[in-house]
Amino acid sequence: MIQLNYGGKNQYGDTPLTTEENQDVSLFFGQSSFATYTTVDENNIVKVDKDVDLRYLGPFGCGIMTGSGTVLNSINPEPGNSIVVFGTGAVGLSGMLAAKIAGCYPIIAVDIHDSRLKLAKELGATHIINSKSEDPVEKIKEITGKGAHYSFETTGVPEVTLAALHCLRVKGICATVAVGKRDLTFNVFNDVVANSLTLRGVIEGDAVPQLIIPKLVTFFKNGQFPIEKLVKFYELEDVDRAFADSSNGSVIKPILIIDKSYQV
Ligand SMILES: NC(=O)c1ccc[n+]([C@@H]2O[C@H](COP(=O)([O-])OP(=O)(O)OC[C@H]3O[C@@H](n4cnc5c(N)ncnc54)[C@H](O)[C@@H]3O)[C@@H](O)[C@H]2O)c1
Repeated sequence: MIQLNYGGKNQYGDTPLTTEENQDVSLFFGQSSFATYTTVDENNIVKVDKDVDLRYLGPFGCGIMTGSGTVLNSINPEPGNSIVVFGTGAVGLSGMLAAKIAGCYPIIAVDIHDSRLKLAKELGATHIINSKSEDPVEKIKEITGKGAHYSFETTGVPEVTLAALHCLRVKGICATVAVGKRDLTFNVFNDVVANSLTLRGVIEGDAVPQLIIPKLVTFFKNGQFPIEKLVKFYELEDVDRAFADSSNGSVIKPILIIDKSYQV
């Protein structure tokens, strides 16, 4: 996974792209985004229905698959199980939409931006917590009684990962996907063992793209995955603005449109 996605080369140790000066162009994530043409391995092809708007489907290959797969595959909750999603970006919201499909209750969303929490509520969170103004662990215990069955951590902030453990009931499971910059220090007995908790890392939602993406496309088509509410389209020339809007939090998932003539 690390070698193929971040090593810059394909499985044959090559990159099919070079600059005019004949320098290798890194094959990031097996594709090299922002190129107007690229080559991809046929093993990575996912067939989807012809009538679906392809412009929305790019993020299905990473963040949306990761969020929904973590809930549907890795956590696999039963209807009525409680779940807390920490971080309501593209990954957290996808996990939350999946939790709604799985019949979880309550579905609690935690973030530090009211605008994102508002959208989370609109998309199916039964409760929202702004952890800047409320103690999430206290509030989650108040909502769930014994603590949540599951938590899904997407922020990568060490204090939030600890909160995602502390909010659980006995034998609860915290799944984390986040790529955090800072280290987390925790007491193995107090924070994990004492309540028989599980902290597990998940890559790409434990998903097989060819199986999960067509399923997610069906959810998208029937309105259970309203991805259009998460995304904003940009032309390739506006890539810097897309990055800025993503990092300042104003847009959840920017999508660059390379083929302007594309029509469904
Ligand atoms: N493991 C994998 O396979 C995989 C795949 C895709 C993405 N990721 C990772 O998942 C993470 C989430 O991705 P995303 O696209 O949703 O990112 P994002 O930046 O859109 O979402 C993160 C959310 O966390 C919130 N947040 C930040 N600090 C917080 C805090 N202290 N308390 C509460 N909320 C806080 C932000 O407001 C934001 O809404 C990233 O780290 C990304 O790299 C992992």
